[in-house]
Amino acid sequence: MRVIHTVAALRDALAGATTTALIPTMGNLHAGHIALVEQIRTHGQPLVASIFVNPLQFGAGEDFQRYPRTLAADCERLEAAGCDIVFAPDADEMYPEPQTFQVLPPLADELCGAFRPGHFAGVATVVLKLFNMVRPATAIFGKKDYQQLFVLKGMTRQFNLPIRILEAETTRAADGLALSSRNGYLSAAEREEAPRLYRLLQRAAARIAAGERDFAAIERAAADELGAHGWRLDYFSTRDRRTLLPPAREAGELAILAAAHLGNTRLIDNIEVARG
Ligand code: PAJ
Repeated sequence: MRVIHTVAALRDALAGATTTALIPTMGNLHAGHIALVEQIRTHGQPLVASIFVNPLQFGAGEDFQRYPRTLAADCERLEAAGCDIVFAPDADEMYPEPQTFQVLPPLADELCGAFRPGHFAGVATVVLKLFNMVRPATAIFGKKDYQQLFVLKGMTRQFNLPIRILEAETTRAADGLALSSRNGYLSAAEREEAPRLYRLLQRAAARIAAGERDFAAIERAAADELGAHGWRLDYFSTRDRRTLLPPAREAGELAILAAAHLGNTRLIDNIEVARG
């Protein structure tokens, strides 16, 4: 496995490759990331994982400075998983000049976008740059970041990018907590509390699947329980899976998306549900 830091060296390494597969990450890899590597492995070659903590997608006062940077350990895991190339540019290589052209993706102001202004523009912009640097035939993203996946599929479609986007199911700890690099910020007590978010998503999904229609009441019950256990809720929201907008009466394919703070850690999760 090669670890490459510059776009020029990456271009050399990939010259002639036609089925390159890309796994974009911000590093601090866990089993959820490695599951992405394993899923995409049969879809392309060489396998490139990018590791870049993207300043453009962090807002003022967010965790850009303290985001864990663990390149050596990440490379060991990626090599064991069969990765061929790690592309780990620094910020000057990614942004040699101020990034004045940015992608304005669909739904950038909804859900997480409402609480993290500019976040999805930063995500879409860096992923478009990575797509142009790596020119993958296939790329993979996790459903853990449901809105991000939706935004990036929209970008790929709307700009006719010749890239197949694969989707990976969410990898969870045994108690249901979605794996995340940010879980490392949790204290022991918070870690014990954290699976409540997914339990509430499951409970809400079960009510909808059983035929309940009052989404607002279902969401309020979840919000109240989170509040009672010390969470600060950003949103807990039932959406149409096809649009990520509030569901029309006849929408059958739904997803419930949630984001909430536990202490200083912001956690997100979601669940898909078919209306009963
Ligand atoms: P990062 O949070 O490192 O996640 C990289 C990829 O791993 C994303 O596609 C994410 O959805 C997926 N992922 C993370 N945790 C997962 C889990 N528990 N199960 C399944 N997939 C999981 O998402 C980003 O980085 C960045 O925004 C990026 C797309 C790299 C742009 O900077």
